[in-house]
Amino acid sequence: MLRTGIRAWSRRVGKVWRYLSTGNFSGLTGEISQFWEWLCGGKAASRPLSGGSNVKISKGETGDAFRSSNCVPIEVVEMAVYPTEFLVPQLRKHIPLKEFPFVAANKENLDWSEKDLRAKICELGPWTYDLSFSYGLTTRLNSIYSDGTVDFHRFRTKLVSETIIDLLGDEVGQSTVLDLACHCGVFTLDVAHRGAGLVQGIEFRQKNLDQAKFLKKYYRIRNARFRKGDIYRLRSDKKYDVVMCLGILYHVIDPIRLLEFCYDSCKKFTIIDTICHKQPISAYCVAIGKRPEGAPESELEGTRSIELQPTYRAVIETMREVGFREIIEVVGTCDTPIELYSEFSRRCFIGFK
Ligand SMILES: C[S@@+](CC[C@H](N)C(=O)[O-])C[C@H]1O[C@@H](n2cnc3c(N)ncnc32)[C@H](O)[C@@H]1O
Repeated sequence: MLRTGIRAWSRRVGKVWRYLSTGNFSGLTGEISQFWEWLCGGKAASRPLSGGSNVKISKGETGDAFRSSNCVPIEVVEMAVYPTEFLVPQLRKHIPLKEFPFVAANKENLDWSEKDLRAKICELGPWTYDLSFSYGLTTRLNSIYSDGTVDFHRFRTKLVSETIIDLLGDEVGQSTVLDLACHCGVFTLDVAHRGAGLVQGIEFRQKNLDQAKFLKKYYRIRNARFRKGDIYRLRSDKKYDVVMCLGILYHVIDPIRLLEFCYDSCKKFTIIDTICHKQPISAYCVAIGKRPEGAPESELEGTRSIELQPTYRAVIETMREVGFREIIEVVGTCDTPIELYSEFSRRCFIGFK
């Protein structure tokens, strides 16, 4: 009985310490929560954002409950709300939600019989992106996405790719682009299709790489390349005009090293798309326990079970520190609010050399 009591108490103390050390107090109640809010200068969860609505972070990219700086059990979490900060100049873009141009232009490929194509789509799945092919076939044959993620992907792909192409201007056709942790290569293919000279995607997981190589072949995008690579082992001896660091900064244990790599590897600019925590401090939050023991590995996650996720200020300050001369934010607006982006929990930055 005594032992059980001690165990229960030490669990409670450990939990409080973890909340305190990560700055995420959303799962705490009562005095501790209020004390921590007071200490951080934060306000209670009902405080409206500058945009008028309350921030409610509930879903991650995979559609799971969003488990930011994950010391809180996996249920939907109402985060304490901080006003959204805007500390760098912005480039604003309106984003109509449309099918990826490389798909719209190339979806008919009659080199494939319907039977073979169907079998290939099923074999390579489950798919995360909504993609169409000949005979009215789509990745829905074997997929793990919902309607919400279709819009999410269309929004962010256009936001990133169009910005890169616009910034490269007349030099686009001679430009080289590196896409780090490219998953099934949608950004790589999109930027290549929009006219970049050569786009190199790098991905660690074989399953994602197999999908990417199939899509490149199917949609006949010759200026895209894919290879296996671990971002923890990359060397910056080869330089690219542009580096894409999308959806990966918050999945690693050494985000500062990753941003140094981006700086060293780009000749013109790096584009970074990342989750940003809102606490008005420059910090990285520890996210742990994202994969319960025995659960299958998610193809979208990092390769470590622990990761460091940046606050908004940490992204900007680290970018400055590694050398980027000028930093801007690309803000996309859309007729349909896009999860995470419309709440500024996920943001897109460009660092110029
Ligand atoms: C959230 S997804 C982002 C994919 C894509 N860049 C995007 O923005 O949609 C994270 C990707 O990083 C890949 N990844 C995770 N750890 C990696 C590592 N150490 N090296 C290379 N890729 C990695 C995953 O396999 C996954 O494809």
